Amino acid sequence: MADRKGKLPSPEEMQRDIQQFLKDKYGVETAQAEVDMLGTRESETAPEHEEPDLHFEMTPRELEAYLRQYVVQQDDAVEVLATKIATHFNRMRWEREDGRSWPVIPGQIKPNVLMIGPTGVGKTYIVKLIADRLGVPFVKGDATKFSETGYVGGDVEDLVRDLVRVAKGNIKHAEYGIIYIDEIDKIAASPSVAGPDVSRTGVQRNLLKLMEETEVELRVPHDLASQMEAVMETQRTGKAPQKKVNTKNILFIVAGAFNGLDDIIRRRLNRQPIGFGGDVDTKVRDRDDLLANVSTQDLIEYGFESEFIGRLPVLARLTDLNVDGLLEVLANPYNAVVQGKIRDFAAYGIDLTFDERALQLLAERAYEEKTGARGLTRVAERALIPFEKQLPSTSVRELMLTEHAVRDPGAVCERLVFDATIRSAVLQFKEETGVILSLSKAAKNWLAEHADGHKTPGELLLSRFAGLHYAFNLLERESVNVTRSMLAQPRDTLEGMIRKNYRPRE
Ligand SMILES: Nc1ncnc2c1ncn2[C@@H]1O[C@H](COP(=O)(O)OP(=O)(O)OP(=O)(O)O)[C@@H](O)[C@H]1O
Ligand SMILES: [Mg+2]
Repeated sequence: MADRKGKLPSPEEMQRDIQQFLKDKYGVETAQAEVDMLGTRESETAPEHEEPDLHFEMTPRELEAYLRQYVVQQDDAVEVLATKIATHFNRMRWEREDGRSWPVIPGQIKPNVLMIGPTGVGKTYIVKLIADRLGVPFVKGDATKFSETGYVGGDVEDLVRDLVRVAKGNIKHAEYGIIYIDEIDKIAASPSVAGPDVSRTGVQRNLLKLMEETEVELRVPHDLASQMEAVMETQRTGKAPQKKVNTKNILFIVAGAFNGLDDIIRRRLNRQPIGFGGDVDTKVRDRDDLLANVSTQDLIEYGFESEFIGRLPVLARLTDLNVDGLLEVLANPYNAVVQGKIRDFAAYGIDLTFDERALQLLAERAYEEKTGARGLTRVAERALIPFEKQLPSTSVRELMLTEHAVRDPGAVCERLVFDATIRSAVLQFKEETGVILSLSKAAKNWLAEHADGHKTPGELLLSRFAGLHYAFNLLERESVNVTRSMLAQPRDTLEGMIRKNYRPRE
């Protein structure tokens, strides 16, 4: 191999290298078909390029009703997204069926969406739900991963290629997909940078092309996986696969928290005199209130190119979830936190339930974390981890998570495990001797103090009385109260009791 360090190979070089690699490593001779990896040759109609079977007939209200089953609050965003996305897909359906004879409208813009809202309040969740419901491929990317040239980080076009992968190679299906890009606020040109912030503006421009309409090459030199696929496929079929994806119908949804945007809006509102010559009472306005007034101008000031904002005609705003909202999220029958934990425990045969006050406390704690519904997972895990670790190796088969347990999971769990091991030990002892042991508080404390890593309190209890079963039988009692001294000196204490039992009455 020639030394081409520091330079990207041409597709041909890349192909030769890969073929050589396959030969050296696996002894595979690749077919010598011409692989025009970056070419534009139209492919023959392979099955994977067939028109997908689309069901885009949902009305906005149907889609909204579907989302309402899952999503707590965020009424505005749910309404806007359900309506615009339902229309987008119905329009595509209609265009395929009836719209062909209508004149083409030049320069029309599809309803790409800009979502503004803090972390963990349902941005990704809502879009994912919609994509699942409509059965369209969905990919999620992170704007911070892209660089202008694409080769350093990722290339925005990778998202389109990912869509094809999600659509299992069906390009036509991918062309109806949804691309979701998080942290879009991070590619706003930073005002602190002197002159234009070239790289971020560059990423915006690259995205702009995709959001409008462009053809994306399926195979690129820097994506080794796709190159390998191409070579393998060519080797198999002797034909080069189809390589272009059109983005005309792909819906783009970009989202971010947009910290600081509220200040820009406040400043603008302050400059505008309103009615009666008075100032806007901006001090009392909170962030949500300000964001309700966001304008294109504010977003440009934030650091976006006006053309970029122009390709995002739909705005969806999401607001913080308060404690009640978080509680509602927890109570939702589809919620992954509660339902997920119930299943985690069910895997061990343990029936987990949540007390109402425990849920309330979890919601309050999650609210303090300021990470929206994401905080719920963290606080629930924190409360449940000791139980999840300990209970599977005990006889406990039911757990009701109480408020007390959320406050002090370690202690509550220890108590539960303790009681469970004692219960099993008492049961075993009864089976072996017919005697029911009943432990005083002091006796339990003694076991707690003396049980160590090697023996559970129950095992310790049994070991203290091992070899003394005859003594219990001599007591001729159905049940025996176990005292602290009986555990400390079992033989002496029991013998003393027996002696007392048999002492002739005077
Ligand atoms: N409004 C909501 N209703 C019901 N569940 C929600 C809601 N918001 C968030 N969740 C739950 O929290 C999880 C995380 O939310 P999501 O991924 O939508 O956050 P996000 O808004 O995209 O935040 P980020 O900006 O951090 O990506 C979801 O998978 C969902 O289970
Ligand atoms: Mg998200």
